Formats: sequence, structure tokens, C-alpha cells
Amino acid sequence: MTMNILDYQPVGDKKNSDFFNEYRLKIYQRRISSGLEDLLEGICALVVQVETGEAIAYMQELYLMTPYRFKDAYLNQTHKIYIMEARPEWPSYVVLEAVDSNFSDDLTRLNKLYPLASKKPNARYVGEVFKTSDLDETRNILESHNIRFHYPDETENKFFSNRHFNFTLPSSITGNRIGYMPTDTFDQDTLELGQQILLRGQELETLEKTAEQAEANGTSQLILGVDHMATRILSGEREDAILEFLTLSNYYFWGAYNIADQNSSTNVNRNPKVDNDKFSPAKVFTANNTPSFVNSFENLPMPTEDFVRNYGRRMHHIAYEVQDGDHQAGEKNIDFIVDVLKDNGIPFLAQVVGECTDKPNLKQIFSKHSNYSLLITEYVERCYGFDGFFTKDNVAALTKAAGADERYHHGNIFD
Ligand SMILES: [Fe+2]
Repeated sequence: MTMNILDYQPVGDKKNSDFFNEYRLKIYQRRISSGLEDLLEGICALVVQVETGEAIAYMQELYLMTPYRFKDAYLNQTHKIYIMEARPEWPSYVVLEAVDSNFSDDLTRLNKLYPLASKKPNARYVGEVFKTSDLDETRNILESHNIRFHYPDETENKFFSNRHFNFTLPSSITGNRIGYMPTDTFDQDTLELGQQILLRGQELETLEKTAEQAEANGTSQLILGVDHMATRILSGEREDAILEFLTLSNYYFWGAYNIADQNSSTNVNRNPKVDNDKFSPAKVFTANNTPSFVNSFENLPMPTEDFVRNYGRRMHHIAYEVQDGDHQAGEKNIDFIVDVLKDNGIPFLAQVVGECTDKPNLKQIFSKHSNYSLLITEYVERCYGFDGFFTKDNVAALTKAAGADERYHHGNIFD
């Protein structure tokens, strides 16, 4: 699919400033003139870090809730690196686990600033990795646009200082890094990830048993790849977060919707080079419409800003597409998946939202956040060929559900 991002008219009813509209186009033009547009392909990996000793348990959770399965593990000077894959054409999923439980780097320090994140100081969604046809050239171009990168031996986390791929410093607006690498798979021969390690007998057995459980659940073929990742940020930084991501990527701003009764907006960016988001998932930013202290005049719900104050600016959820269809008469696949996972002990926030009766629409649900990654998992089923990205009603209901859970922490956040 090819589209002209310069001619594209964003959708949605969230108003953007003239500043935003001007720089959105200037950034696209600069990507094209600098060559970045041609260098970058899609997102080829998502990177998540967990606490020491929790990687196997986290992967078990992913076995039940996602299509990702363990492929290889490596050990470098500071981390175990677990590579997971679903289908070759979808991004890999990389789980980082520090060898030393006292490990600390810039992400640890960032987590420690926030009351709920500080309890799991190394658990964090780190960022996405883009495939580039020329790593040095990509870094040179982005550095000339004032983007900062880690160089080997400049970071405590040795995964980010590999000489075959580069990561930016965590964004001060979103807390996310962006990585760039010359292949689309974590290939040891090309990337020298570390010493390959074999899982211990018991670890392997645990994962194999969970794989069998996922098969027996009958959900394995129904949960497809990643549809989008949604980062929560502060109200005043919404436009900057989008423009920063447009600078760092080859994505375009698809559009933004105002979710007035939750005092928030949903801002969607997509890859123009793919016709299926699962090949290079959409990147979403959610922000309050007004900052928390001004919100106190109207006292609207403000789940987004509550989340940021509790956990800091960071990735909030990863959404997986569910194969559309009826598991049995009157039961959509998403309802079946949620029932089975609840039986497996996976908790969800509220109910499936949206109706799929006889016309194109979509159904969605949020899980509770993982105790290992702190990420919420979203499932989305687009019924009868629904070709939109989302509906405002569903986003409002989902945001409200996440907010209801969040408000628990509103009074005494140390509960
Ligand atoms: Fe979402």
C-alpha cells in the first residue's frame, strides 16, 4: 500500500493547534528530504523489561494471553534476553531481565519517581524497534534532528549498548525509547546479543505445560498479533509526543478523537507502508484534555492523568487483534477468549464493550495490568469487516473501566 502522507487529512474531532499542523507537515517533508523515510521499514520488535526472576512467569502469562512463544535466550554482562516470536511477519517480543536484582539504570530511576511504579522499579515497557536499511545513516540523520542515542559503554543496561543496533534515550515526554536495527529478527550471528543460554529443565517444562494449556484452551489460533500500543502522557504534552514520534519513525498521524466525558483524547499514528497494523502496530497516545489541577474545577473523571501521576508517563496497554467470528452461535470469539482466560485466573476490568450483532462494529476489553510488566492487555475484535480503527463509545467505556480501577489508588496511593 502506498499513500501520500503529505496529502493525508487526519480524521477525528480533537482539535490540534496551528503549531501542530505546521510541524506535522514539516516533519514529513524533512523525513523525505533527509532520506529517513526510505531507510525505515516497520516496527520489528517490542521490548519489555521485568524484575529479576520474573521472566519465566511473565512469559507464561504471554503464552496464555498472546500468540508469543519463547524462541531463544541470551546472556550479556547485565541481562538475560528472552526472544519471543509469534509469526515471522509480526514484530518479535523481547523480554529483558536483569541478572542482579539490584540492577539500576535510567528506566529504574524513572520508575522510582512514581508511587505505584516504584514497587516494580525494573518493570517497564521499554520501546519499539524499527528495521532500518542503514543503521549509521539513520542515527546520523536523527542526531542532526536533536535526537539523543546511547553509545556502547554509555549505559548500565548492556542491551542498549550493542554495537549492531541503537536505542534512543528514554523520551522525556513519553518515557519510551525507540530502537533501530538492520535486520527484522534477533539473529545472533548479525547482532551478537550475548552468550546463548538454555532454559533450565524446570523452566522449559513450565513453558511447555503452559503452551499445552493454551492449546487446550482453544484460544491459540484466535488471538492474533499486536494491533496497537497505547502510551499515557500528560495533558500539555499531547501534541509534542505525537510530533516526537513522527520525527523518530516513518509513521503518520492518522487522527485524534475527543473522549469528552473521560476528559481525554485518543491520538492514533499508523505506518503508511503496511495495509495491516499487525505487521507494524499503530502507536497511540492518550492524554487528558485538561491537567489534573484544572480538572478540579469541573471534577470530571480523569483516568489518564491519574495513571500518569501514579505510574509516570509510560506505555499503558498493548492491544491484540482477535480473529473475527462466532465461537458458537451467539458467542463471539472475544467473549469466548475472555471466559476461558478468566477460568485460567486472568483478571479483567469490567466487561467486553461494544456490540457485534449484525453490522460492522468492534468489541474490546482490557485485562487488569500484569504484575510482571505492569501492562494492560487489550483484545479487539472487528466484526463483519468493520474497517475503522475504533469507536468513540468503546474508547470512552474502556477508559472509564481503567479509570475505575485507577481510582482505587486515588485517595491513598500507597494502599
Ligand atoms: Fe487501545
